[in-house]
Amino acid sequence: MVRGSIRGKTALITGSARRIGRCIALALADEGANIVAHYNTSPAEAEELAGELAGRGVDAWTVQADFDRRDEIDLLIDRAVERAGPVDILVNNASIFPSDNLENVTFESVVENLQVNAWAPFVLSRAFAKRMGRGRIVNLLDSRVSGYDWSHAAYIWSKHVLAVMTRMTALEFAPDITVNAVAPGLILPPPGKDESYIERLAGTVPLKRHGEPEDVADAVLYLVKSDFVTGEVIYVDGGRHLKEYTNG
Ligand SMILES: NC(=O)c1ccc[n+]([C@@H]2O[C@H](COP(=O)([O-])OP(=O)(O)OC[C@H]3O[C@@H](n4cnc5c(N)ncnc54)[C@H](OP(=O)(O)O)[C@@H]3O)[C@@H](O)[C@H]2O)c1
Repeated sequence: MVRGSIRGKTALITGSARRIGRCIALALADEGANIVAHYNTSPAEAEELAGELAGRGVDAWTVQADFDRRDEIDLLIDRAVERAGPVDILVNNASIFPSDNLENVTFESVVENLQVNAWAPFVLSRAFAKRMGRGRIVNLLDSRVSGYDWSHAAYIWSKHVLAVMTRMTALEFAPDITVNAVAPGLILPPPGKDESYIERLAGTVPLKRHGEPEDVADAVLYLVKSDFVTGEVIYVDGGRHLKEYTNG
């Protein structure tokens, strides 16, 4: 991949029908990348995104898969390549974020979080490496992997697994594939909460505000354009991870 250019490359972005994933898709398209927009339960939003991407002059495809189903995870890379041709960039963005703590966390929640948030990115990365042999992978972590999240226990465990997996696959897939991560902090309110939720927490951020999806997309863009960075995590969190270290 020519350093600094993703023009004409094709990127598969999981969970990209809405929110941060959508913003990443638009940012990559603005640099000339064609987009395979994966979705699960948001077909209308995915189609709307595909229309907007086409309007920006790139090719766009949508592909549905439910990561609660292991067979659907297994087939996604092949299905994306069948639709779009060679895939050069994989962004593992799809995630679940259920609430649980050490008192009430269940085995079922741990398994589901691990499957959607860590196993799916791993299987997609492995299939991508095997099928494509070269390219860029970016995994979406969470800035709290520098510490804990006491009210989303199974979720944060799954993100810690994804962080370790990022480093292991970076070594395993070198030199032809780079694997990096972006760890967002306070960006968007979780589904079901409104803007006041992140406004209230903004005071806990060293930079005293929440970030925007575009801040996350900028970091993804840097990582997919770089050809000498691998195994790295970019924290896009206004410095909150620096406090997480002491919260542990
Ligand atoms: N929002 C933040 O402030 C924040 C903070 C820290 C980390 N992050 C991380 O950044 C990434 C993007 O965040 P976000 O808030 O935009 O994510 P999100 O809205 O919670 O989820 C993104 C997408 O994941 C897909 N998804 C969920 N369950 C799935 C399943 N079983 N199978 C396949 N896809 C599934 C959904 O697709 P459908 O809608 O099509 O079902 C959803 O739109 C995530 O990895 C998240 O953990 C976000």
